[in-house]
Amino acid sequence: MYNFDFYNPTRIFFGKNRLDVIDKNIPSDAKILITFGGGSAKKSGLIDKVISNLGNRKILEFGGIEPNPRYETLMKAAEVVRNENIDFIMAVGGGSVLDGTKFICLASHYKGDARDLLKYGFTPITPKVAEKVVPFGAVLTLPATGSEMNNGAVISYEHGKFPVKSEMTFPKFSILDPTYTFTLPKIQVANGIVDTFIHTVEQYITFPVDARIQDRIAEGILQTLIEIGETTIAETENYDARANLFWSSTMALNGIIGAGVPQDWATHMIGHELTALFGIDHGQTLAIIYPAIMKIRREKKHAKLLQYAERVWKITNGTDDEKIDLAIQKTIDFFESLGIKTKLSQYGVTADKIPVIVEQLKTHGLTKLSETGDLTLEISQKILEKAF
Ligand code: NZQ
Ligand code: ZN
Repeated sequence: MYNFDFYNPTRIFFGKNRLDVIDKNIPSDAKILITFGGGSAKKSGLIDKVISNLGNRKILEFGGIEPNPRYETLMKAAEVVRNENIDFIMAVGGGSVLDGTKFICLASHYKGDARDLLKYGFTPITPKVAEKVVPFGAVLTLPATGSEMNNGAVISYEHGKFPVKSEMTFPKFSILDPTYTFTLPKIQVANGIVDTFIHTVEQYITFPVDARIQDRIAEGILQTLIEIGETTIAETENYDARANLFWSSTMALNGIIGAGVPQDWATHMIGHELTALFGIDHGQTLAIIYPAIMKIRREKKHAKLLQYAERVWKITNGTDDEKIDLAIQKTIDFFESLGIKTKLSQYGVTADKIPVIVEQLKTHGLTKLSETGDLTLEISQKILEKAF
Protein backbone atom coordinates (compact mmCIF):
# COMPACT_ATOMS: atom_id res chain seq x y z
CA MET A 1 0.00 0.00 0.00
CA TYR A 2 1.28 3.49 -0.80
CA ASN A 3 1.65 6.24 1.80
CA PHE A 4 -1.44 8.40 1.93
CA ASP A 5 -3.04 11.46 3.59
CA PHE A 6 -6.74 11.19 4.26
CA TYR A 7 -8.94 14.16 5.15
CA ASN A 8 -12.70 14.37 4.86
CA PRO A 9 -14.57 16.89 7.02
CA THR A 10 -18.08 16.50 5.52
CA ARG A 11 -20.85 15.61 7.98
CA ILE A 12 -23.35 13.14 6.54
CA PHE A 13 -27.02 13.02 7.57
CA PHE A 14 -28.48 9.90 6.02
CA GLY A 15 -32.06 8.64 5.89
CA LYS A 16 -35.67 9.76 5.85
CA ASN A 17 -36.82 13.21 7.03
CA ARG A 18 -33.45 14.71 7.94
CA LEU A 19 -34.03 18.31 6.84
CA ASP A 20 -34.34 19.49 10.44
CA VAL A 21 -30.54 19.26 10.75
CA ILE A 22 -30.22 22.28 8.44
CA ASP A 23 -31.14 24.72 11.19
CA LYS A 24 -28.58 23.34 13.64
CA ASN A 25 -25.75 23.30 11.10
CA ILE A 26 -25.92 26.83 9.72
CA PRO A 27 -25.25 29.99 11.79
CA SER A 28 -28.56 31.52 12.83
CA ASP A 29 -27.72 34.95 11.39
CA ALA A 30 -26.40 33.67 8.04
CA LYS A 31 -27.76 35.10 4.81
CA ILE A 32 -28.44 32.16 2.52
CA LEU A 33 -28.40 31.51 -1.21
CA ILE A 34 -30.22 28.34 -2.31
CA THR A 35 -28.79 26.97 -5.55
CA PHE A 36 -30.68 24.45 -7.70
CA GLY A 37 -30.96 23.07 -11.21
CA GLY A 38 -33.57 23.15 -13.93
CA GLY A 39 -36.59 22.84 -11.67
CA SER A 40 -36.93 19.22 -10.46
CA ALA A 41 -36.33 20.25 -6.84
CA LYS A 42 -38.89 23.06 -7.13
CA LYS A 43 -41.48 20.78 -8.69
CA SER A 44 -41.09 18.11 -6.02
CA GLY A 45 -41.55 20.67 -3.26
CA LEU A 46 -38.07 20.04 -1.85
CA ILE A 47 -36.95 23.67 -2.12
CA ASP A 48 -39.99 24.79 -0.11
CA LYS A 49 -39.16 22.23 2.57
CA VAL A 50 -35.55 23.46 2.71
CA ILE A 51 -36.80 27.05 3.03
CA SER A 52 -39.14 26.14 5.87
CA ASN A 53 -36.19 24.62 7.75
CA LEU A 54 -34.15 27.81 7.40
CA GLY A 55 -36.39 29.72 9.83
CA ASN A 56 -36.03 33.50 9.83
CA ARG A 57 -32.76 33.65 7.91
CA LYS A 58 -32.67 35.90 4.84
CA ILE A 59 -32.89 33.71 1.75
CA LEU A 60 -32.20 34.27 -1.93
CA GLU A 61 -32.56 31.67 -4.69
CA PHE A 62 -30.51 30.92 -7.80
CA GLY A 63 -31.95 28.32 -10.17
CA GLY A 64 -30.97 27.14 -13.61
CA ILE A 65 -27.66 25.38 -12.95
CA GLU A 66 -27.62 23.04 -15.93
CA PRO A 67 -26.30 19.44 -16.16
CA ASN A 68 -22.53 19.72 -16.76
CA PRO A 69 -22.62 23.16 -15.13
CA ARG A 70 -21.36 26.01 -17.24
CA TYR A 71 -18.86 28.63 -16.13
CA GLU A 72 -21.02 31.51 -17.41
CA THR A 73 -24.07 30.40 -15.39
CA LEU A 74 -22.01 29.94 -12.25
CA MET A 75 -20.42 33.36 -12.56
CA LYS A 76 -23.91 34.91 -12.49
CA ALA A 77 -24.51 33.18 -9.15
CA ALA A 78 -21.06 34.25 -7.91
CA GLU A 79 -22.05 37.85 -8.60
CA VAL A 80 -25.19 37.43 -6.49
CA VAL A 81 -23.12 35.96 -3.64
CA ARG A 82 -20.69 38.88 -3.77
CA ASN A 83 -23.23 41.69 -4.22
CA GLU A 84 -25.69 40.34 -1.66
CA ASN A 85 -23.07 39.40 0.96
CA ILE A 86 -24.19 35.78 1.11
CA ASP A 87 -22.70 33.89 4.09
CA PHE A 88 -23.74 30.32 3.28
CA ILE A 89 -25.03 28.42 0.23
CA MET A 90 -27.50 25.52 0.31
CA ALA A 91 -27.16 23.40 -2.83
CA VAL A 92 -30.23 21.30 -3.67
CA GLY A 93 -29.94 18.89 -6.59
CA GLY A 94 -27.68 16.44 -8.38
CA GLY A 95 -23.93 16.40 -8.91
CA SER A 96 -24.09 19.31 -11.33
CA VAL A 97 -25.73 21.60 -8.77
CA LEU A 98 -23.24 20.56 -6.09
CA ASP A 99 -20.24 20.90 -8.41
CA GLY A 100 -21.51 24.23 -9.68
CA THR A 101 -21.99 25.43 -6.11
CA LYS A 102 -18.41 24.48 -5.21
CA PHE A 103 -17.22 26.69 -8.04
CA ILE A 104 -19.52 29.53 -6.97
CA CYS A 105 -18.05 29.26 -3.44
CA LEU A 106 -14.52 29.57 -4.85
CA ALA A 107 -15.21 32.23 -7.47
CA SER A 108 -17.43 34.69 -5.54
CA HIS A 109 -14.59 36.52 -3.81
CA TYR A 110 -11.76 35.54 -6.13
CA LYS A 111 -9.70 38.62 -6.94
CA GLY A 112 -8.51 37.75 -10.44
CA ASP A 113 -10.15 36.35 -13.58
CA ALA A 114 -12.13 33.33 -12.30
CA ARG A 115 -11.22 31.36 -15.42
CA ASP A 116 -7.81 30.97 -13.73
CA LEU A 117 -9.51 28.57 -11.32
CA LEU A 118 -10.11 26.14 -14.21
CA LYS A 119 -6.38 25.74 -14.84
CA TYR A 120 -5.45 23.74 -11.75
CA GLY A 121 -6.89 20.38 -12.79
CA PHE A 122 -6.26 17.80 -10.05
CA THR A 123 -3.90 20.16 -8.17
CA PRO A 124 -5.84 21.50 -5.18
CA ILE A 125 -6.55 25.24 -5.10
CA THR A 126 -5.04 26.58 -1.87
CA PRO A 127 -6.18 29.37 0.48
CA LYS A 128 -3.34 31.45 -0.97
CA VAL A 129 -5.06 31.38 -4.37
CA ALA A 130 -8.68 31.67 -3.19
CA GLU A 131 -8.49 33.63 0.06
CA LYS A 132 -12.19 33.76 0.90
CA VAL A 133 -14.36 30.76 0.07
CA VAL A 134 -18.06 30.70 0.97
CA PRO A 135 -19.15 27.60 2.94
CA PHE A 136 -21.97 25.40 1.68
CA GLY A 137 -24.23 22.50 2.62
CA ALA A 138 -26.07 20.12 0.29
CA VAL A 139 -29.27 18.17 -0.16
CA LEU A 140 -28.45 15.59 -2.81
CA THR A 141 -31.19 14.28 -5.09
CA LEU A 142 -29.20 12.04 -7.45
CA PRO A 143 -26.80 9.34 -6.24
CA ALA A 144 -23.90 9.22 -8.71
CA THR A 145 -20.97 11.58 -8.46
CA GLY A 146 -19.92 11.43 -4.81
CA SER A 147 -19.80 15.24 -4.92
CA GLU A 148 -21.75 15.26 -1.64
CA MET A 149 -18.68 14.00 0.26
CA ASN A 150 -15.72 15.11 -1.80
CA ASN A 151 -14.03 18.38 -2.70
CA GLY A 152 -14.05 17.97 -6.49
CA ALA A 153 -16.11 19.64 -9.18
CA VAL A 154 -16.19 19.43 -12.96
CA ILE A 155 -16.95 22.70 -14.74
CA SER A 156 -17.81 23.13 -18.42
CA TYR A 157 -16.22 26.01 -20.30
CA GLU A 158 -16.23 26.39 -24.08
CA HIS A 159 -15.59 22.87 -25.47
CA GLY A 160 -13.98 21.43 -22.36
CA LYS A 161 -14.77 20.00 -18.93
CA PHE A 162 -12.34 21.13 -16.25
CA PRO A 163 -11.76 19.41 -12.88
CA VAL A 164 -11.49 21.79 -9.90
CA LYS A 165 -10.43 20.75 -6.39
CA SER A 166 -9.80 22.47 -3.08
CA GLU A 167 -9.77 21.56 0.61
CA MET A 168 -12.14 24.51 1.01
CA THR A 169 -14.86 23.00 -1.19
CA PHE A 170 -15.91 20.00 0.87
CA PRO A 171 -19.59 20.43 1.78
CA LYS A 172 -19.94 21.34 5.49
CA PHE A 173 -22.73 18.77 5.57
CA SER A 174 -24.78 16.71 3.13
CA ILE A 175 -28.27 15.35 3.59
CA LEU A 176 -28.81 12.04 1.80
CA ASP A 177 -32.46 11.05 1.87
CA PRO A 178 -33.14 8.17 -0.53
CA THR A 179 -36.80 9.21 -0.85
CA TYR A 180 -35.68 12.37 -2.71
CA THR A 181 -34.48 10.11 -5.53
CA PHE A 182 -37.95 8.62 -6.16
CA THR A 183 -38.74 11.33 -8.74
CA LEU A 184 -35.62 10.56 -10.84
CA PRO A 185 -36.15 9.47 -14.46
CA LYS A 186 -34.94 5.87 -14.96
CA ILE A 187 -32.13 6.99 -17.23
CA GLN A 188 -30.65 9.18 -14.49
CA VAL A 189 -30.76 6.30 -12.01
CA ALA A 190 -28.96 4.11 -14.57
CA ASN A 191 -26.40 6.86 -15.21
CA GLY A 192 -25.81 7.08 -11.48
CA ILE A 193 -25.24 3.34 -11.15
CA VAL A 194 -22.73 3.36 -14.01
CA ASP A 195 -20.95 6.46 -12.68
CA THR A 196 -20.59 4.84 -9.26
CA PHE A 197 -19.39 1.58 -10.85
CA ILE A 198 -16.74 3.38 -12.90
CA HIS A 199 -15.54 5.52 -9.97
CA THR A 200 -14.96 2.27 -8.16
CA VAL A 201 -13.12 0.42 -10.92
CA GLU A 202 -10.95 3.44 -11.78
CA GLN A 203 -9.52 3.10 -8.27
CA TYR A 204 -9.57 -0.71 -8.16
CA ILE A 205 -8.80 -2.25 -11.57
CA THR A 206 -5.25 -0.91 -11.86
CA PHE A 207 -2.39 -3.04 -10.47
CA PRO A 208 -2.06 -4.75 -7.08
CA VAL A 209 -0.39 -2.92 -4.17
CA ASP A 210 -1.66 -5.25 -1.43
CA ALA A 211 -4.32 -2.74 -0.31
CA ARG A 212 -6.75 -5.33 1.02
CA ILE A 213 -9.22 -3.03 2.78
CA GLN A 214 -9.53 -0.69 -0.22
CA ASP A 215 -9.93 -3.68 -2.58
CA ARG A 216 -12.57 -5.34 -0.46
CA ILE A 217 -14.59 -2.16 0.01
CA ALA A 218 -14.41 -1.60 -3.75
CA GLU A 219 -15.56 -5.17 -4.38
CA GLY A 220 -18.40 -4.66 -1.89
CA ILE A 221 -19.57 -1.55 -3.74
CA LEU A 222 -19.45 -3.32 -7.12
CA GLN A 223 -21.34 -6.35 -5.80
CA THR A 224 -23.95 -4.09 -4.22
CA LEU A 225 -24.49 -2.26 -7.51
CA ILE A 226 -24.82 -5.54 -9.39
CA GLU A 227 -27.33 -6.82 -6.81
CA ILE A 228 -29.56 -3.75 -6.68
CA GLY A 229 -29.07 -2.24 -10.15
CA GLU A 230 -32.02 -3.64 -12.03
CA THR A 231 -34.29 -3.60 -8.95
CA THR A 232 -33.71 0.04 -8.13
CA ILE A 233 -34.52 1.03 -11.72
CA ALA A 234 -37.65 -1.14 -11.91
CA GLU A 235 -38.92 -0.38 -8.40
CA THR A 236 -38.71 3.39 -8.21
CA GLU A 237 -39.85 3.59 -4.58
CA ASN A 238 -37.95 0.61 -3.20
CA TYR A 239 -36.36 2.48 -0.27
CA ASP A 240 -33.76 -0.14 0.64
CA ALA A 241 -32.49 -0.48 -2.92
CA ARG A 242 -32.18 3.32 -3.23
CA ALA A 243 -30.52 3.58 0.20
CA ASN A 244 -27.90 1.06 -0.86
CA LEU A 245 -27.33 2.82 -4.16
CA PHE A 246 -27.01 6.13 -2.35
CA TRP A 247 -24.38 4.97 0.12
CA SER A 248 -22.51 3.11 -2.65
CA SER A 249 -22.16 6.26 -4.70
CA THR A 250 -20.98 8.29 -1.71
CA MET A 251 -18.47 5.62 -0.64
CA ALA A 252 -17.12 5.22 -4.18
CA LEU A 253 -15.74 8.74 -4.31
CA ASN A 254 -15.22 10.11 -0.81
CA GLY A 255 -11.53 9.22 -0.78
CA ILE A 256 -11.72 5.99 1.22
CA ILE A 257 -11.25 3.41 -1.55
CA GLY A 258 -8.73 5.62 -3.35
CA ALA A 259 -6.41 6.09 -0.36
CA GLY A 260 -3.00 4.48 -0.87
CA VAL A 261 -3.78 2.86 -4.23
CA PRO A 262 -2.99 3.65 -7.89
CA GLN A 263 -5.80 5.41 -9.75
CA ASP A 264 -6.63 5.35 -13.45
CA TRP A 265 -9.27 8.03 -14.44
CA ALA A 266 -8.63 7.57 -18.21
CA THR A 267 -12.28 6.57 -18.74
CA HIS A 268 -13.41 9.81 -17.11
CA MET A 269 -11.00 12.00 -19.04
CA ILE A 270 -11.93 10.53 -22.43
CA GLY A 271 -15.61 10.47 -21.41
CA HIS A 272 -15.53 14.19 -20.54
CA GLU A 273 -14.57 14.96 -24.14
CA LEU A 274 -17.61 13.00 -25.37
CA THR A 275 -19.90 15.08 -23.17
CA ALA A 276 -18.23 18.35 -24.18
CA LEU A 277 -18.37 17.56 -27.92
CA PHE A 278 -21.64 15.63 -28.29
CA GLY A 279 -23.63 16.28 -25.11
CA ILE A 280 -23.71 12.59 -24.14
CA ASP A 281 -24.61 12.13 -20.43
CA HIS A 282 -21.62 11.60 -18.12
CA GLY A 283 -22.70 8.08 -17.07
CA GLN A 284 -23.29 7.03 -20.67
CA THR A 285 -19.82 8.20 -21.78
CA LEU A 286 -18.30 5.94 -19.13
CA ALA A 287 -20.32 2.91 -20.29
CA ILE A 288 -18.99 3.55 -23.80
CA ILE A 289 -15.31 3.94 -22.89
CA TYR A 290 -14.75 1.48 -20.03
CA PRO A 291 -15.39 -1.78 -21.91
CA ALA A 292 -12.87 -0.65 -24.54
CA ILE A 293 -10.34 0.24 -21.82
CA MET A 294 -10.70 -3.24 -20.31
CA LYS A 295 -10.04 -4.79 -23.72
CA ILE A 296 -7.16 -2.56 -24.84
CA ARG A 297 -5.46 -2.47 -21.41
CA ARG A 298 -6.07 -6.07 -20.38
CA GLU A 299 -2.36 -6.96 -20.25
CA LYS A 300 -1.49 -4.03 -17.96
CA LYS A 301 -4.53 -4.66 -15.78
CA HIS A 302 -4.28 -8.46 -15.94
CA ALA A 303 -3.87 -9.21 -12.22
CA LYS A 304 -6.69 -6.91 -11.07
CA LEU A 305 -8.99 -7.96 -13.91
CA LEU A 306 -8.55 -11.55 -12.79
CA GLN A 307 -9.23 -10.60 -9.17
CA TYR A 308 -12.34 -8.69 -10.36
CA ALA A 309 -13.53 -11.73 -12.33
CA GLU A 310 -13.05 -14.12 -9.44
CA ARG A 311 -14.17 -11.99 -6.51
CA VAL A 312 -16.84 -9.71 -7.97
CA TRP A 313 -18.39 -11.97 -10.61
CA LYS A 314 -17.46 -15.25 -8.82
CA ILE A 315 -16.07 -16.77 -12.03
CA THR A 316 -14.17 -19.90 -11.02
CA ASN A 317 -14.01 -22.03 -14.18
CA GLY A 318 -11.65 -21.72 -17.12
CA THR A 319 -8.21 -20.27 -17.77
CA ASP A 320 -7.26 -16.82 -16.52
CA ASP A 321 -7.91 -15.36 -19.95
CA GLU A 322 -11.31 -17.02 -20.18
CA LYS A 323 -12.24 -15.62 -16.76
CA ILE A 324 -11.22 -12.12 -17.82
CA ASP A 325 -13.14 -12.43 -21.11
CA LEU A 326 -16.26 -13.44 -19.24
CA ALA A 327 -15.88 -10.65 -16.67
CA ILE A 328 -15.60 -8.06 -19.45
CA GLN A 329 -18.71 -9.46 -21.13
CA LYS A 330 -20.63 -9.51 -17.84
CA THR A 331 -19.70 -5.87 -17.23
CA ILE A 332 -21.05 -4.88 -20.65
CA ASP A 333 -24.21 -6.96 -20.08
CA PHE A 334 -24.70 -5.27 -16.72
CA PHE A 335 -24.58 -1.76 -18.22
CA GLU A 336 -26.93 -2.86 -21.02
CA SER A 337 -29.33 -4.42 -18.49
CA LEU A 338 -29.71 -0.94 -16.99
CA GLY A 339 -30.76 0.44 -20.37
CA ILE A 340 -27.41 2.09 -21.14
CA LYS A 341 -25.91 1.53 -24.60
CA THR A 342 -22.20 0.78 -24.66
CA LYS A 343 -21.14 1.71 -28.21
CA LEU A 344 -20.25 5.19 -29.42
CA SER A 345 -22.00 4.54 -32.74
CA GLN A 346 -25.28 4.01 -30.84
CA TYR A 347 -25.22 7.68 -29.76
CA GLY A 348 -25.24 9.09 -33.30
CA VAL A 349 -21.50 9.76 -33.40
CA THR A 350 -19.85 8.87 -36.72
CA ALA A 351 -16.39 7.33 -37.13
CA ASP A 352 -14.95 10.49 -38.70
CA LYS A 353 -15.34 12.18 -35.29
CA ILE A 354 -12.70 9.98 -33.64
CA PRO A 355 -9.77 12.20 -34.74
CA VAL A 356 -11.72 15.24 -33.48
CA ILE A 357 -12.01 13.64 -30.03
CA VAL A 358 -8.30 12.78 -30.02
CA GLU A 359 -7.49 16.37 -31.00
CA GLN A 360 -9.52 17.64 -28.04
CA LEU A 361 -7.62 15.34 -25.68
CA LYS A 362 -4.42 16.85 -27.07
CA THR A 363 -5.73 20.41 -26.66
CA HIS A 364 -6.55 19.67 -23.02
CA GLY A 365 -3.11 18.14 -22.37
CA LEU A 366 -4.57 14.65 -21.76
CA THR A 367 -1.72 12.82 -23.44
CA LYS A 368 -0.40 10.70 -20.55
CA LEU A 369 -3.44 9.14 -18.94
CA SER A 370 -3.94 6.09 -16.69
CA GLU A 371 -2.51 4.65 -13.48
CA THR A 372 0.95 4.56 -15.05
CA GLY A 373 0.76 7.70 -17.19
CA ASP A 374 1.53 5.76 -20.36
CA LEU A 375 -1.84 6.02 -22.08
CA THR A 376 -0.89 8.14 -25.09
CA LEU A 377 -3.07 9.77 -27.72
CA GLU A 378 -2.40 6.78 -30.00
CA ILE A 379 -3.82 4.45 -27.34
CA SER A 380 -6.79 6.78 -26.77
CA GLN A 381 -7.45 6.54 -30.51
CA LYS A 382 -7.43 2.72 -30.30
CA ILE A 383 -9.78 2.84 -27.31
CA LEU A 384 -12.19 5.08 -29.22
CA GLU A 385 -12.05 2.79 -32.26
CA LYS A 386 -12.76 -0.22 -30.03
CA ALA A 387 -15.63 1.70 -28.39
CA PHE A 388 -17.21 2.58 -31.73
O1 NZQ B 1 -31.68 20.20 -13.12
P1 NZQ B 1 -32.80 19.45 -12.51
O2 NZQ B 1 -34.13 19.96 -12.87
O3 NZQ B 1 -32.63 19.28 -11.02
O4 NZQ B 1 -32.77 17.97 -13.18
C1 NZQ B 1 -31.67 17.10 -13.06
C2 NZQ B 1 -30.88 16.95 -14.35
O5 NZQ B 1 -31.68 17.20 -15.47
C3 NZQ B 1 -32.20 15.72 -12.84
N1 NZQ B 1 -32.48 15.40 -11.44
C4 NZQ B 1 -31.62 15.43 -10.38
N2 NZQ B 1 -32.23 14.99 -9.28
C5 NZQ B 1 -33.52 14.70 -9.62
C6 NZQ B 1 -33.68 14.98 -11.00
N3 NZQ B 1 -34.86 14.79 -11.65
C7 NZQ B 1 -35.89 14.32 -10.93
N4 NZQ B 1 -35.80 13.99 -9.61
C8 NZQ B 1 -34.64 14.17 -8.93
N5 NZQ B 1 -34.55 13.77 -7.64
O6 NZQ B 1 -31.18 14.86 -13.31
C9 NZQ B 1 -30.50 15.49 -14.40
C10 NZQ B 1 -29.02 15.27 -14.27
O7 NZQ B 1 -28.51 15.90 -13.12
P2 NZQ B 1 -26.94 16.10 -12.89
O8 NZQ B 1 -26.76 16.79 -11.61
O9 NZQ B 1 -26.33 16.71 -14.11
O10 NZQ B 1 -26.42 14.59 -12.81
P3 NZQ B 1 -25.23 13.95 -12.02
O11 NZQ B 1 -25.51 13.91 -10.57
O12 NZQ B 1 -24.95 12.69 -12.71
O13 NZQ B 1 -24.01 14.96 -12.23
C11 NZQ B 1 -23.23 14.95 -13.40
C12 NZQ B 1 -22.11 15.98 -13.27
O14 NZQ B 1 -21.19 15.62 -12.24
C13 NZQ B 1 -19.85 15.62 -12.74
C14 NZQ B 1 -20.06 15.23 -14.18
O15 NZQ B 1 -18.92 15.53 -14.97
C15 NZQ B 1 -21.28 16.04 -14.56
O16 NZQ B 1 -20.92 17.36 -14.86
N6 NZQ B 1 -19.01 14.75 -11.91
C16 NZQ B 1 -18.62 15.20 -10.71
C17 NZQ B 1 -17.78 14.48 -9.90
C18 NZQ B 1 -17.36 14.97 -8.57
N7 NZQ B 1 -17.78 16.14 -8.15
O17 NZQ B 1 -16.61 14.32 -7.87
C19 NZQ B 1 -17.25 13.19 -10.32
C20 NZQ B 1 -18.00 12.58 -11.44
O18 NZQ B 1 -17.13 11.68 -12.09
C21 NZQ B 1 -18.51 13.52 -12.44
O19 NZQ B 1 -17.50 13.82 -13.38
ZN1 ZN C 1 -18.01 10.11 -12.82
